[in-house]
Amino acid sequence: MNSIVDFKETDMQNTDDIHDIRPGTRADTRPLAVVTGASSGIGFQLALLAARQGYDLLIGADEPLTQAETELRMLGARVFAVRADFATRDGVDELLAATEGRPVAALFANAGHGLGHGFLDQEFHDVQHVINTNITGTIYLVQCVGRRMREAGQGRILITGSIAGFQPGSFQAVYNGSKAFIDSFAMALRNELKGTGVSVTCLMPGVTDTHFFARADMLDTRVGRQSDKADPAEVARIGFDAMMRGESGVIAGWRNKMQVALSRVMPAPRLAELHRRLAEPGGGEVHRHPHHAKPSL
Ligand SMILES: NC(=O)c1ccc[n+]([C@@H]2O[C@H](COP(=O)([O-])OP(=O)(O)OC[C@H]3O[C@@H](n4cnc5c(N)ncnc54)[C@H](OP(=O)(O)O)[C@@H]3O)[C@@H](O)[C@H]2O)c1
Repeated sequence: MNSIVDFKETDMQNTDDIHDIRPGTRADTRPLAVVTGASSGIGFQLALLAARQGYDLLIGADEPLTQAETELRMLGARVFAVRADFATRDGVDELLAATEGRPVAALFANAGHGLGHGFLDQEFHDVQHVINTNITGTIYLVQCVGRRMREAGQGRILITGSIAGFQPGSFQAVYNGSKAFIDSFAMALRNELKGTGVSVTCLMPGVTDTHFFARADMLDTRVGRQSDKADPAEVARIGFDAMMRGESGVIAGWRNKMQVALSRVMPAPRLAELHRRLAEPGGGEVHRHPHHAKPSL
């Protein structure tokens, strides 16, 4: 793939510095990974990978995590679960308190959700919840954990952004904007932390087969009904591996890499029009544009 979608830049200083925190195998030396949004989808798969790699887990979501906890414990990990709303500072503080001061070796800042329909038809309360979850809660968590990692001189952070950040998201406008923020933020923070022993990696998935579309009330859209969504286990593996290699960012899947390359050369009004076809309510029932571009959520 050409350089405009090449996120494989690896900060050698960063990776050299963090070699000594690779997961241990003995229960008393297992490092701690914090995973937000671990109840389902990509976050649950990231938690599974971390458990298999020998991490203990602190997982969080705003719905019960019982099933996730059970499955993760079966892999031998010690699992602590916090049920809280990470759109609020109190919710994030609750998660942080649950670390009980233990060093965090890996942070997966993954919790996030979308919101379908036209902006003027959305409830502002729901709009705020997207921003507070995807942006404010995420960067508050990253700041608190990042400071601790910098002080310790080691740590790995994986932030779940999206290829949606490269495209104006008609009928999902606030969500795409929130991911543009996150994609950009992750890359900037990574640069700021050069040489500190803390690496930041941004995972940018495309359309993935999770609860995302149901939660965003987008099941009647073309993208919501798309049958060939990516497997969240595969997406998580791509992100996890990129984080372990200390890469700056990774777009999951070649089709999404193509989509991002296209987004960087196509005029923004055209991209917004393409997104309308994918995310407009009712669009899933109509087939007006058989040669539509691949979606970007
Ligand atoms: N699916 C896609 O097509 C796609 C594409 C690109 C990027 N992404 C990003 O991938 C990440 C994971 O989403 P997913 O696709 O795996 O969807 P998902 O299955 O709906 O998982 C989202 C997770 O985030 C949690 N969460 C959402 N808002 C929260 C809040 N305010 N407080 C606490 N937990 C919250 C959910 O918890 P509950 O179960 O408790 O609600 C759930 O565990 C998100 O950041 C999303 O934006 C998804």
